[in-house]
Amino acid sequence: MIEAFGERAAVVAGVGGWVPPDVVTNDDLAAYLDTSDEWIRTRTGIRTRHRVSPGMATSDLAVEAGRRALDSSGDPRVDAVVLATTTPDQLCPATAPVVAARLGLAGVAAFDVSAVCTGFLYGLATAAGLIAAGTAERVLLIGADAFTTIVNPEDRSTAVIFADGAGAVVLRAGHRDEPGALGRVVLGTDGTLSHLIRVPAGGSRQRSLNRSHEPGEEFFQMDGRDTFRHAVERMTAASQQAVASAGWSLADVDRLAAHQANARILTAVGERLGIAADRQLSNIADVGNTGAASIPLLLAQSHADGTLAAGHRMLLTAFGGGLAWGATTLTWPKLPGS
Ligand code: COA
Repeated sequence: MIEAFGERAAVVAGVGGWVPPDVVTNDDLAAYLDTSDEWIRTRTGIRTRHRVSPGMATSDLAVEAGRRALDSSGDPRVDAVVLATTTPDQLCPATAPVVAARLGLAGVAAFDVSAVCTGFLYGLATAAGLIAAGTAERVLLIGADAFTTIVNPEDRSTAVIFADGAGAVVLRAGHRDEPGALGRVVLGTDGTLSHLIRVPAGGSRQRSLNRSHEPGEEFFQMDGRDTFRHAVERMTAASQQAVASAGWSLADVDRLAAHQANARILTAVGERLGIAADRQLSNIADVGNTGAASIPLLLAQSHADGTLAAGHRMLLTAFGGGLAWGATTLTWPKLPGS
């Protein structure tokens, strides 16, 4: 492999997460949908999820998580804000500049990354690239999604899974041998399967046809069964590549932080990788699938409750619409104030 950027690496320097206060239980959903608490728990592992209140948008979630990550890093300044999201406040402009301004960072580079549930991994690669190239010394990377604003409340296969939240990390320029340094970020996509997860209406295709959308096309749609199979295969393969790239074996991994898509997917990936439940971080029971927020929210909560500690060798992996997937490794650092 060509070492294009020498020893310089992106190093995790802060973490934060936030979920909106409104909690939706399985029984709340079963009150109007043809589903049950038992079905949702056994098929997805989800017990509760959080939902934005009326008027609240993705930027509101992102600002809360971003502020917590900046506080945790002990330094409120960054040169760039990268926001991974599938639910921007509006189609144009990007949401990141608004988030940056509300964090007192007007003037810095700010843009959105669109890679659905793999957005945080794509964001890590983007932020690491900005740092490696010398474009930025410090980057705030936020994953935030208000999925309940695009899910069809009548669609029981998605309404029970997808939820709202935000997580963020601060990355700073450092040395690739120090704790917190990101390993190679393995990324991939398969656009021949883009129809498995999508929102058909609202983009240029439907608009250039100059017709209003068919009922339901403005909502998020997913083929759950096919998605399940691809998620397991792709997260497993990407994880194996990332671990090999780090020079580790899977037995070296202390904590797996996988995209919290579905507890059965997490179990299947863990089995294939030989990483038992006690080495897996998980919050899906309490927060559901929060899209691009999933991994950074999991990191923030696990860091706060001590299940993730300085020195843990970590494997991160995600999968989602695109189809897109990714994985990377790092050793969790000691963060300022912890
Ligand atoms: N409550 C009750 N029944 C439900 C239901 C719900 N919330 N959602 C679907 N069903 C029904 C289906 O209609 C189907 O009924 P049928 O057999 O009469 O047609 C039955 O349950 C089985 O459907 P199936 O899709 O095979 O179920 P499943 O075990 O695959 O579980 C998902 C459905 C959506 C939970 C599962 O496919 C899944 O988690 N997929 C991956 C989703 C995911 O993680 N996406 C994000 C990737 S980033």
